[in-house]
Amino acid sequence: MAKYRVGLGVSGGIAAYKAVEVMRALQKSGCDVSVAMTRHATEFVQPLTFRALTDKHVIVDDYDPQNPDPIAHINFSQNIDLLLIVPATANIIAKFANGVADDFLSSTYLATTAPVMIAPAMNTTMWDQAATQRNVERLRKDGVHFVLPVEGELACKTVGTGKLEDVENICRQAMALLATCDERGETGEDQSSSNVCDLKGEHFLITVGGTREAIDPVRFISNHSSGKMGFAVAEAAAARGANVTVVAGVTTVDPPANVKVVQGISAEEMHDAVMNELSKASVFIGAAAVADYAPANAADAKIKKEGRDSMTLELKKTPDILADVSRHRHDGLLVIGFAAETNDVIGYARSKMEKKGLDIVVANDITKAGAGFNTDTNIATIILRGGQKEMPLMSKRELADRILDEVVRARTS
Ligand code: CTP
Repeated sequence: MAKYRVGLGVSGGIAAYKAVEVMRALQKSGCDVSVAMTRHATEFVQPLTFRALTDKHVIVDDYDPQNPDPIAHINFSQNIDLLLIVPATANIIAKFANGVADDFLSSTYLATTAPVMIAPAMNTTMWDQAATQRNVERLRKDGVHFVLPVEGELACKTVGTGKLEDVENICRQAMALLATCDERGETGEDQSSSNVCDLKGEHFLITVGGTREAIDPVRFISNHSSGKMGFAVAEAAAARGANVTVVAGVTTVDPPANVKVVQGISAEEMHDAVMNELSKASVFIGAAAVADYAPANAADAKIKKEGRDSMTLELKKTPDILADVSRHRHDGLLVIGFAAETNDVIGYARSKMEKKGLDIVVANDITKAGAGFNTDTNIATIILRGGQKEMPLMSKRELADRILDEVVRARTS
């Protein structure tokens, strides 16, 4: 039996032929794929191609007398674990964003409760157009996931953003979303119709990575943070339907797709970036390793060693971003911090919770193997106002989901 059921929607762009490769890759990953096409898509690829490879009728028009199912848009939409649109034209994005249901694919979007992932492909000007960007933003807010187009040479021979993301990347992201929803019991043959991701409507603001505090134009004070934990939380939240903004310091890994990234390299810059974004947030997570002190007077020019046998650096305290967010919190904002400790982990973490007014603290003992900086795993205790939960050695991504489970619990309790 296939692991997941994917509804693959193909709209009318030159990249429609790549949907065939996506379909094959999904099948190889154990998915049962059903295909729906817009009428314009059939100008680029014949439905017969998909039919031969899926052994299923390819639906273009509900009302086509050849269509074996008289209420196809309902049956198709209710029997999938994911609706994946490859490629998505500006037109289909506009229809989805506005609830227009004038053909099979747009009706399916309105009729499905499955998570939706969209991989757009179009000319750069069409992609950059305010109307398209507005529609994308609106769909993101509605909980739709995007595999954003990349830069490259387009069919019209221009170079710019608008090229369909690589087939492998689209499949990887689709499979990751399916796996996340599966863990949460939201996919599978025996599912009910309620398979909507559970963080839809939330807006996460997450600080990630280490900060860099300038001594002079060439030197700085920093730390070993990689950004892996913060990005794992960002990725997991986006996969569960949240809108995610990350304020990133220095990181050694790439940010996940589907999140907005704002830079804040020094503690001061990170603080300002967070305060700028805060009013939109419903959940704040301080996952960054923010320097507690920065040079009091960074030199404008490179400091020379000539004539100096020693050097004293005066440091001043940086703004405590997490504490400031908590102090300025608006109604409904959940504030979550991290505590990386080497001793009396729970004691220090609980005192952070009190001092900074936090709802949840994720505490870890960084001396334990598998729990430090730059690893892909972590061992943690999630400290709640009314108790705590031990998280044994697990991937940072898995821990991210356990933290997000507590966000969901906090909202429903
Ligand atoms: N944090 C912050 N801004 C700072 C310092 C820390 O937002 N200037 C956040 C971190 O992102 C993390 C939590 O606060 O969520 C860590 O708490 P903190 O008490 O600052 O930890 P340490 O820096 O380890 O401090 P201490 O030496 O007091 O243990």
